[in-house]
Amino acid sequence: ELLPVILSGGSGTRLWPLSREAYPKQFLPLAGERSMLQDTWLRVAALAPAPLVIANEEHRFMVAEQLRQAGCTPRAIVLEPVGRNTAPAIAIAALEASADGADPLLLVLPSDHVVRDPAAFRAAVQKALPAARVGRLVTFGIVPTGPETGYGYIRAGEAAEAGEGVRAVARFVEKPDLATASQYLASGEYFWNSGMFLFRASRYLEELGRHQPAMLDACRAALAAARRDSEFVRLPKERFAACPADSIDYAVMEKTDAAAVLPVDVGWNDVGSWSALWEVAEQDGDGNAHHGDVLARGCRNTLAWGDHRLVALLGLEDVVVVDTADAVLVAHRERVQEVKEIVAALKAGN
Ligand code: GDD
Ligand code: MG
Repeated sequence: ELLPVILSGGSGTRLWPLSREAYPKQFLPLAGERSMLQDTWLRVAALAPAPLVIANEEHRFMVAEQLRQAGCTPRAIVLEPVGRNTAPAIAIAALEASADGADPLLLVLPSDHVVRDPAAFRAAVQKALPAARVGRLVTFGIVPTGPETGYGYIRAGEAAEAGEGVRAVARFVEKPDLATASQYLASGEYFWNSGMFLFRASRYLEELGRHQPAMLDACRAALAAARRDSEFVRLPKERFAACPADSIDYAVMEKTDAAAVLPVDVGWNDVGSWSALWEVAEQDGDGNAHHGDVLARGCRNTLAWGDHRLVALLGLEDVVVVDTADAVLVAHRERVQEVKEIVAALKAGN
């Protein structure tokens, strides 16, 4: 009845130069020995059958190989020829999951998050099941620790009709500006959206059809024309490219009346930026987190990532250094969100 849907199509640009289009962060062992994609599966393996995985066509070998190494035989790996963001990816998963007439509860999981307490997360999923069964689109809420603008904000309302601790969503605001985020934080009434969801396949499709009918139609058409082989379900480029692009947060969660939230405390971190990675990395007594062959003297609050040669830091504070074969990032700790602007400039060719 429960079917994990693993989203693996993003490119994680704020972790450049480690995370690249060709090798995005979900495939990297950023927070341990295994990649975050592998950890995502292992976190729920005890709870659920083989997952549906939705990824970019370009990454097909990496996805298949990493899942195999983690002992996962996916129910299917669906390949997107182009990214259309999460609302269509989840729609494709919901359509694929219900093609045989079943109507499973989809546990939608980003492939690039760290969850320090997997057992608590599994317990939370169990707690959320009753609300999802009666038709709620359940998200898992995180107590915010700062006015981050890269997250969705949720104001929790009344207790939902089912599921202990599950509350109706009074308001869902995706990526508010800094002033608004600060206000939400100060009010103490908001949670962050963790980006993990639990709902019935049919309920998601119903809500998508209500709020984004063109998107639903395009996804149906694309999946109907998909080419299938033993390993992959390949969406046809022309059809899927014609689908409007949007995230589930803007396309559905901000608009639906059926949303609910279960606040959780599971050691969640979305490792969205170098500062977020810092928080999950092991630090010495001076707040330094170093990975690889790094030598530091007299440093405080530095993050250094050495890929393959020695990196030496001397007398630095609040600095991020990331060394890779063809690019080096040296940045102030407080400016790491702007790394995505560097990537955009590189893409544009300047
Ligand atoms: N298959 C597929 N196709 N996956 C995708 C695509 C796509 O086109 N775009 C993104 N993904 C995957 C990413 O790899 C990631 O695992 C997940 O979907 C979420 O996408 P992000 O691009 O990382 O979203 P976000 O971080 O900006 O915002 C979401 O997550 C936040 C928490 O981390 C939202 O749900 C926010 O509301 C939330 O707070
Ligand atoms: Mg993210």
